[in-house]
Amino acid sequence: MTRRKRRNFPSTTTENGGRKTMESLPGGQALPGRTNVVLTRNRDYKKKGVTAVHGMDEALSFLKQFPDDDIYIIGGEEIYRQFLPYCRTAHVTRIDYAYEADTHFPDLDQDPDWQVTAESDEQTYFSLCYEFCRYDRKMEEKTYEKKE
Ligand SMILES: NC(=O)c1ccc[n+]([C@@H]2O[C@H](COP(=O)([O-])OP(=O)(O)OC[C@H]3O[C@@H](n4cnc5c(N)ncnc54)[C@H](OP(=O)(O)O)[C@@H]3O)[C@@H](O)[C@H]2O)c1
Repeated sequence: MTRRKRRNFPSTTTENGGRKTMESLPGGQALPGRTNVVLTRNRDYKKKGVTAVHGMDEALSFLKQFPDDDIYIIGGEEIYRQFLPYCRTAHVTRIDYAYEADTHFPDLDQDPDWQVTAESDEQTYFSLCYEFCRYDRKMEEKTYEKKE
């Protein structure tokens, strides 16, 4: 996540991430002014300003109290993969550079359930080019057959 993107989160959001991502945030601290939810299997896990949940069921049940649009899944890979089926929108920063990496976000361009619905102009940070991209889940057109 880029620093600029992190700044763009509205301050009322609920940020839901994995324990390793929490450790990668500045100072390993909870993001201020919002609800921080961390998934961990460690029942003894405690951190100031953080609500720990210990599995998907507990996470989904805790998150029910918040409006859907205020819930942001902030990674990392393990968390993205588990929560993606519950997400309607993905905000992806595409950076025009190939880094060595050991964790990845699923490639939504290869996923037929998702489509690009908005793209920013190209941005630059020194010599690095990047763009903000919004993906939305394709809505199923459900047709219900009347059962005899
Ligand atoms: N570029 C970006 O946008 C971005 C965004 C986020 C993160 N990242 C990077 O991604 C890396 C971390 O990603 P990651 O995939 O290795 O780790 P992660 O998803 O951040 O966290 C994994 C941890 O979450 C807990 N967990 C996962 N599934 C769980 C479940 N079903 N129930 C209970 N706990 C569960 C476990 O914690 P315990 O081990 O405590 O049990 C697990 O070790 C970091 O380097 C971070 O900087 C990048």
